[in-house]
Amino acid sequence: MEVVRSREELRRALAALPRPLGLVPTMGWLHAGHRSLIAQAREECAAVAVSIFVNPRQFDDPADLARYPRGEATDLALCAGAGADLVWIPGVDDVYPPGFDTLVTVERLAWPLEGAARPHHFAGVTTVVAVLFGVVRPDRAYFGEKDGQQLRVIDRMVRDLGITEIIRCPTVREPDGLALSSRNVHLSPEDRAAAAILARALFAGRAAHDGGERSADAIRAIVRTVLSTEARADVDYVSLADDATLEELTVVERPALLSLAVRFGTTRLIDNVRLG
Ligand code: PAF
Repeated sequence: MEVVRSREELRRALAALPRPLGLVPTMGWLHAGHRSLIAQAREECAAVAVSIFVNPRQFDDPADLARYPRGEATDLALCAGAGADLVWIPGVDDVYPPGFDTLVTVERLAWPLEGAARPHHFAGVTTVVAVLFGVVRPDRAYFGEKDGQQLRVIDRMVRDLGITEIIRCPTVREPDGLALSSRNVHLSPEDRAAAAILARALFAGRAAHDGGERSADAIRAIVRTVLSTEARADVDYVSLADDATLEELTVVERPALLSLAVRFGTTRLIDNVRLG
């Protein structure tokens, strides 16, 4: 496995790799969810590249950026173990060279939910992903369902611009249901135990839908009722939206995304399940 940092080193390393090339874009502090993305890319592509870059432009809050966890040595060990051929760890100037003046934005899909809570977030995500795709030129890029809105926003961008194929990969969960996330490291032991309520709430909503409930309000209420049994959970939103447009639903008659954002102390977690 080769590790490169500058764009020039990357270009040389990429020229030696066979095609198709799969890219797994990450912000590091890798966990079993990332390992599953790399493993899937390994199965489907002749070569696999991973990028590790904590992208300052997608953080609305500088304090959140400052405390984002970092661990290069353990990240590289995970990449090697999962079968990556190349890891790109650029500095800020490698991604945004001096004079960089481009913003890539997706419109309607990026407005609700995480977009409403973090106004500059998705423009930061789509801009950095466009740069990663432009420099690495992958044939396929692998993203987890866990960041459901991000996945849809990036998928819209690549369809609109005609670049790269997006592969959607299932959320990886702890035995108690908590979706793996680099942010889980910030949870206190008490909040970590309490955070299992997120999956229980989403699964209760999905069970109601599977049982025939079609009222979106009723399903959202079931999720909120389960969440309310956990005093440590401070609910930001519970959404039941059209799976393609992310517009809130009244009646669930087509594929839908049931998603939530909940704070435990200073840590804000998101999760989702698809219905239908
Ligand atoms: O999901 C992430 O880790 C980041 O948002 C991404 C896609 C790597 C862009 O920085």
